[in-house]
Amino acid sequence: MPGQRIFVAGASGFVGTCFLRAALAAGHEVDAVTRSKSHAEALRAQGVNAIVGDLLNSEGAWRKALRNADSVVHLAQPQTFGGHLTKARATQYSVLRFDMDRALFAAIDPARTRRIVYVAGTSYYGECGSEICDENAMPLPRGWGPYLAPAIEALPDYIARGLPIVAAFPGWVYGPGSWFAQYVLEPLRDGKPVYGLRGRARYTSPVHVEDCARAILHLTGKGEIGNRYFVVDDAPVPGERLAEIAANALGVTGHGRKLPFILLKLLVGRVIAESLAYESRLSNNRLKSTGFSFNFPTCEQGVPHAVRAWLQKNPAPMVE
Ligand SMILES: NC(=O)c1ccc[n+]([C@@H]2O[C@H](COP(=O)([O-])OP(=O)(O)OC[C@H]3O[C@@H](n4cnc5c(N)ncnc54)[C@H](OP(=O)(O)O)[C@@H]3O)[C@@H](O)[C@H]2O)c1
Repeated sequence: MPGQRIFVAGASGFVGTCFLRAALAAGHEVDAVTRSKSHAEALRAQGVNAIVGDLLNSEGAWRKALRNADSVVHLAQPQTFGGHLTKARATQYSVLRFDMDRALFAAIDPARTRRIVYVAGTSYYGECGSEICDENAMPLPRGWGPYLAPAIEALPDYIARGLPIVAAFPGWVYGPGSWFAQYVLEPLRDGKPVYGLRGRARYTSPVHVEDCARAILHLTGKGEIGNRYFVVDDAPVPGERLAEIAANALGVTGHGRKLPFILLKLLVGRVIAESLAYESRLSNNRLKSTGFSFNFPTCEQGVPHAVRAWLQKNPAPMVE
């Protein structure tokens, strides 16, 4: 659906940056809210109508732009990665995320806006066992999942009140930033360990950040209102496979270190340790049934691309 007016919350973030590129390249007009003046300037330089504001502040010019949107894409979340992820920090995330959603949804005009793509996360589904699961699976939240749950479980109420919500559930979104840079690429570059969980390999369902952003844009036109879509590539892999491919692409070896859960928790915090401790083999059949196709159907194709993009932004010398 070309030529939409799309309101984006979270446009300056990891997925949002890619989303903007895809939306502007497809000829859409974009309004975006950001708390930061410097982010607003960077967004304006790309052709976005950026408004400085805060979703947690119910007043603000962003509400006017929101009411004129054909589609709304909600990618905003309180800060997640960086620093030690304690349970207290995750609990605060949960409360703020819920409040942010409430403020955003309250300001939308359902008579004007055709779709709201709400971006959640597959950690809400959590432990899926050894079978491939679809969106009808019973959620058993793990990692970030329990902290996303209050916001996700409020969505049916908003839909019942007439908001045209389509929910996207990305898996592990890898690319040249965010957690993938912090926990995998930077340690590999610096000759430091990439930590994993000792014991059997746990499968996860990854997606390249560019495909994730393209899928979210696709859902603004093709997502069925009230439905959920897993945004994951074709091939679940053992979680450590992403680091192995990245190490090969960087030309380094031997930096993986597997720890028992208790030590991992001490090192990276409970939320991240739990994120490595469950099986998540998810199907993208529903997303594909809407006509979406991936540029990077597997992480074997996508991770080397992400590493090259990261090296272009971070050309520091490698330590072997
Ligand atoms: N990254 C992943 O691996 C992953 C995996 C699964 C699901 N997801 C989901 O995908 C979505 C986007 O994730 P991400 O990694 O791209 O996020 P991110 O990089 O952490 O970016 C968060 C964004 O939220 C905005 N924001 C935060 N608080 C705000 C507030 N009070 N008012 C307005 N804007 C606010 C920030 O904008 P300013 O700082 O400019 O204000 C920033 O653009 C999230 O819902 C996340 O749960 C991500």
